[in-house]
Amino acid sequence: MSKEKSTMKAWQSNAFGLENLKLVQVAIPSPKTHEILIKVGAVSLNFRDKAIIDGIYSPEMIPFPFIPVSDTAGTVVAVGTDVQKFKVGDRVISHLYSHWMDGKPAHNEPEFCLGAPLPGGLAEYMILEAESAVAAPASLTDEEASTLPIAALTVWFALVNHGNLQPGETVVLQGAGGVSIFGIQIAHALGARVIVTTSSDEKGQKARTLGADEIINYVTTPNWAKEVNRLTNGIGADHILEVVGGEGLNDSVEATRVAGQITVIGFLAGQTTALNLMPVIFKQTKIQGIAVGHLKALEEMNKAFDKYNIKPVIEKVYPFEDAVEAYQHLAKGAFGKIVIKVS
Ligand SMILES: NC(=O)c1ccc[n+]([C@@H]2O[C@H](COP(=O)([O-])OP(=O)(O)OC[C@H]3O[C@@H](n4cnc5c(N)ncnc54)[C@H](OP(=O)(O)O)[C@@H]3O)[C@@H](O)[C@H]2O)c1
Repeated sequence: MSKEKSTMKAWQSNAFGLENLKLVQVAIPSPKTHEILIKVGAVSLNFRDKAIIDGIYSPEMIPFPFIPVSDTAGTVVAVGTDVQKFKVGDRVISHLYSHWMDGKPAHNEPEFCLGAPLPGGLAEYMILEAESAVAAPASLTDEEASTLPIAALTVWFALVNHGNLQPGETVVLQGAGGVSIFGIQIAHALGARVIVTTSSDEKGQKARTLGADEIINYVTTPNWAKEVNRLTNGIGADHILEVVGGEGLNDSVEATRVAGQITVIGFLAGQTTALNLMPVIFKQTKIQGIAVGHLKALEEMNKAFDKYNIKPVIEKVYPFEDAVEAYQHLAKGAFGKIVIKVS
């Protein structure tokens, strides 16, 4: 980094609402002894980033003014005096729950999330604690690597850490959104049979090219659970990644095999549900809530992306100056991730 450069461009949010996200000039932060400074290459947007800006995601935890967006990829340009893990020139990605390294999460992990309450990556430079940064997969560009920390890790943690996914097992992905697309790619790479529900036949075709074996249009086939049972000879799926939530959770119980696992990830159709308990009891369904995952899993997942040559699906890369348009695109929906190229 050039010695004379002391300020950087950053997007800063001063109040809730996208209209209050402004491009400003701020001081480049200096790494403390245990920290690294990265030159940000790219960030990717998640539902969480938009919900934070909209004031509907833990609004009491937002420290105005703040730099948003958690998922970041970049290159180390300075290291603190105690840092062993990385050196200048290394490529790294961020890890949302920056203090959750392994094992069970602590009660206060949300206090150490990037992109609020801790500063995010929508700026030319970003500070990370060295121990909470993760080496970027060598096979991916910054734009691609920036898509991994939330959406991909959530899938990996659900299927591998909690699900112990085995080749030949059946995985159901709901909708062809950001999480589910990674679900298709990861489950397929690990040898699973992949069933995708979608409202769009066109997205269904794209899902097939990524490794989906069966497509169910949930608009023309609203009883998709029955169809999953038909496709699995009446047995049901081994794993369902539940991004829909709401009353649909009952459909997922119906579509899951005895002792199968439903991972509760999203709430696109509602944050509450009236769950019929008897099918859950009789089928001994495992219902596992999930909040992304720990750092060790992210490191293991990155090795798998290199090994299986998984390429994240990106719908559009926006220039840094067009960050507001990128948020608006996210709100409209996309097939794949929305990325902002920073440098
Ligand atoms: N717990 C966690 O750690 C975690 C991590 C990441 C995301 N999430 C949550 O997971 C959810 C999905 O995130 P995302 O980034 O994948 O969202 P997204 O990219 O916006 O995906 C939305 C897609 O979901 C599908 N969908 C919507 N309503 C549906 C319904 N009733 N039935 C079936 N599919 C439906 C649609 O697919 P089609 O267009 O194909 O129909 C839509 O395109 C969000 O609620 C997000 O907050 C949670």
